[in-house]
Amino acid sequence: MIAIIGSQRKKGTYDAVVQFGEYLKSYGGIEFEPLFLHNYKLEFCTGCKLCFDKGEEFCPLKDDRDLLIDKMNQADGVVFASPNYAFHVSARMKNLFDRLAFIFHRPRFWGKPCAAIVAQGIFGGDKLVDYLNSSGENLGFHAVGGCVVATLEPTTEAIRKKNEQKLQKAAAVFHKALGCPAPAPSLFRLLMFRISRTKIRSMLTEESRDFRYYQDNGWFVSDYYHETSLGFPKKALGRFFDVIGERITF
Ligand SMILES: Cc1cc2nc3c(=O)[nH]c(=O)nc-3n(C[C@H](O)[C@H](O)[C@H](O)COP(=O)(O)O)c2cc1C
Repeated sequence: MIAIIGSQRKKGTYDAVVQFGEYLKSYGGIEFEPLFLHNYKLEFCTGCKLCFDKGEEFCPLKDDRDLLIDKMNQADGVVFASPNYAFHVSARMKNLFDRLAFIFHRPRFWGKPCAAIVAQGIFGGDKLVDYLNSSGENLGFHAVGGCVVATLEPTTEAIRKKNEQKLQKAAAVFHKALGCPAPAPSLFRLLMFRISRTKIRSMLTEESRDFRYYQDNGWFVSDYYHETSLGFPKKALGRFFDVIGERITF
């Protein structure tokens, strides 16, 4: 298990991650590695879109992006942890998702849970938990929640206890999800998949990396990205979403 930390310092976000890790490890047989993004060289995306169009190996930036992807590949689950900065995740954390946006097009981490931990002074963290979870799902993880911890100083015993309870609960939910198969998609995720694949098939050619990725994975004909039992209503809606995809023009 890894936790990717978007904070610059060993304070609120790190402390929360460590505590979450302790709760997780208490279930036994779990290794937990907190990783600070600032210890990795990760340049800002220049927007060339070569990763989207030709493939991630054509990215002109030579840095630790693939090292971080390897870490996620090796982990059974990932925690995305960030401080609340100006009502958003830290710039480092946002940059990570910018640099991994090609995986949003070609998701892969099926069957692995992700969770979010946000440290904040006062307000706005719930939306960041949603953002981190949604970004994790865009990469292919299945999001299982997480929590916001309050770090305003001086802190009180009541706040410390509440933080602990939230982290303990988040760790329990995360632990339960470990090793479980990827769940069936929500209607929103199904809609996104069916419209994306219809558009990729009609607008792109084999020249495009996205097109080849969909073709190689059988995604032009599958119900969803990964094997799943959709059930009758979602199967029917999936076909409807295919039709919508054909009619939508961008
Ligand atoms: C630049 C900056 C912006 C911040 N913006 C917010 C904010 O919008 N909402 C909030 O509740 N706390 C905000 N805070 C407080 C931090 O979220 C809080 O101090 C948190 O513990 C920082 O994480 P760290 O302890 O891991 O560094 C901000 C702090 C900084 C330095």
